[in-house]
Amino acid sequence: MDEDKYPAPSSRRRFVKGIVGSAALGSLGVAGSGLTTVPTNRSGVGGGNVEAKVIKNTAGPAPRGMSQIPVTVEDGYLKGVWPAATDGGEVADGAAKTTLGGTTYSSKWFQYCGIQTHPKLVPDSEADNFIRADPGGRYEWEADLEPGTKLAVEMFDDYEEWGNGVGDAGLGKPAAATWRSVEPDSTLPVQVIRSPEIERLAEDDEWLAASTDQGFLAWLNKCTHLCCVPSGFKQSATVDGAENAVYCQCHQSVYDPFDVVSKVVTAFPRPES
Ligand code: FES
Repeated sequence: MDEDKYPAPSSRRRFVKGIVGSAALGSLGVAGSGLTTVPTNRSGVGGGNVEAKVIKNTAGPAPRGMSQIPVTVEDGYLKGVWPAATDGGEVADGAAKTTLGGTTYSSKWFQYCGIQTHPKLVPDSEADNFIRADPGGRYEWEADLEPGTKLAVEMFDDYEEWGNGVGDAGLGKPAAATWRSVEPDSTLPVQVIRSPEIERLAEDDEWLAASTDQGFLAWLNKCTHLCCVPSGFKQSATVDGAENAVYCQCHQSVYDPFDVVSKVVTAFPRPES
């Protein structure tokens, strides 16, 4: 177990909170930006449309899927891929981008819901990219993890049998986590699963082969409807289709982590620095 530690959270306040009214959201052009830190106009850098890989929304009001975060395993720990220049990426058009599995992977994928104002979305910002335990981890198995602990492959050794009484056991083991950020009031919320189904899908899919590792798949856990942090994989036994999928408790949107699709999404501009 990694010993990296971070200050205990002083509250459950998350980066960018505070849903605003639907009229204000409409003025932003894309549903799902209800954050107090969202700029009130489109000035800034790195905005525009971009083709992203998302876990598909299958029910509820979410207008699109949640953006996937490519994952690698390094020395037994989970790491999200950031398209940094040091790893073959480049900064262009106000964003970091690289080619992965035949797909152009861009930091613009994450510029929605106020996340675009996060300092770790600046293309050349430094971060170690390890995926770390969430200060408020939602799954019982995470309860003993110190916030900020690097998630290790060995924590998911039971992924082929794991279940929590919701839906079918054996589909995969989830974790609520953070990426590129550990401050309790400024996280990039992530969910990751390790699943035998992802391993199978990656055998026949160039993108999934490049963006998943040992069955691990991750996504930015920010609902594209009104920006809640979804409760996640296997968190609703009562909503049809949600028991083996990702559920957003705010307005019952459902996302399927086993159906990664390409989608043109609107990236909100980042503030000019
Ligand atoms: S915020 Fe409305 S469904 Fe998620």
